[in-house]
Amino acid sequence: MLGSKVFDAESAMENEREKEVIALNETKAGTKGLFDAGIQKIPNIFIRSPEDIAEDLKRGRSCLQVPVIDLSGLVDGVDQRRVEVVGQLRRALEEWGIFQVVNHGVPPSVLDGMLAGIRQFHEQDVEMKKDLYSCDVKRKVRYSSNTELYYKAGAACWRDTLSISLQLTENVQPEELPTACRSTTVEFIKHATKLGEDLFRLLAEALGLEQDHLVGLDCAKGRQILCHYYPPCPEPELTLGANKHTDTSFISIVLQDQSGGLQALHNNKWVDVHPIPGALIVNLGDFFQIISNGKFKTVEHRVLSSQAGRPRISVACFFMGRIEPPTIYSPIHELISELNPLQYKEFTVEDYLVKFVARKRGKPVIHQFELNL
Ligand code: OGA
Ligand code: NI
Repeated sequence: MLGSKVFDAESAMENEREKEVIALNETKAGTKGLFDAGIQKIPNIFIRSPEDIAEDLKRGRSCLQVPVIDLSGLVDGVDQRRVEVVGQLRRALEEWGIFQVVNHGVPPSVLDGMLAGIRQFHEQDVEMKKDLYSCDVKRKVRYSSNTELYYKAGAACWRDTLSISLQLTENVQPEELPTACRSTTVEFIKHATKLGEDLFRLLAEALGLEQDHLVGLDCAKGRQILCHYYPPCPEPELTLGANKHTDTSFISIVLQDQSGGLQALHNNKWVDVHPIPGALIVNLGDFFQIISNGKFKTVEHRVLSSQAGRPRISVACFFMGRIEPPTIYSPIHELISELNPLQYKEFTVEDYLVKFVARKRGKPVIHQFELNL
């Protein structure tokens, strides 16, 4: 009897939660809508579990800094400068899985323009953007808040996102983008794509492979651009802007404004990724860990909420590889040896994403691709 009471209480909570998710979706105004309405208490779906908060207290914070790598003076051939940068990248990836780049060739005006455009998109009247609100992950351009809550339990994140998926088409026509951020987004995507390809060449060298090996595997294809808006939060200590996660990508290039809040997990402590004007953040995702046969690891990260008087804007450009026609990725042959035997199963991007959507909270998806488990 007791068992069925517990079950009833759990399903009642589940129903309550579902109602809150549906109510939030129906407003089509996202978390920004809650902020604009002046709420002082955040809805329950946003509240982190006591275990999650306790884990933080136990873990503590670190005052280390993620590596900053200067990409100036690189030419395509092999010269001294390139060898030096590749060495810095290798160390950053072996120790951290995340770093910042400066002098990366993307003009500051393109970065500032992108941040301003994304802010404008999110800050326009709900009437202007509500037609784009959708939970349908197949839509190429859509805006949403916490749609993943339909699939899995866990706290909602205090942010809204405009997503642009170039996974199936590889390009976007300006008219497909919202007018508020159209030209700035086209420019940003062009530059981020070029930087991504440059980085994959450097990363291949850092793995001891031919410069074009990763680009040749289409790792720089299948981009997805997530343009986030984190409104100020009345109870920032109870929720997060982005829950702890690793990215389902080979690499992600992240542009953040000067608000701060992004943290990476390093040696089991949270490290702030300090904003540097003009810099971009690069982090490895799960796919890179698999194809490098565990040599370079994916990195857990999250975003704190803040009560500050202004929103935080960031843009993450995921390089997810080719999804169509389905392409099989597996640990790179040259990186498998007696000392480092094969560690992962092969995967297709679609297959990985299906498992990602169905994942249980707190259980990294990459474990499902480890061999001998
Ligand atoms: C992401 C992410 C970080 C940020 O979109 O996966 O980690 O700063 N974003 O918004
Ligand atoms: Ni991320």
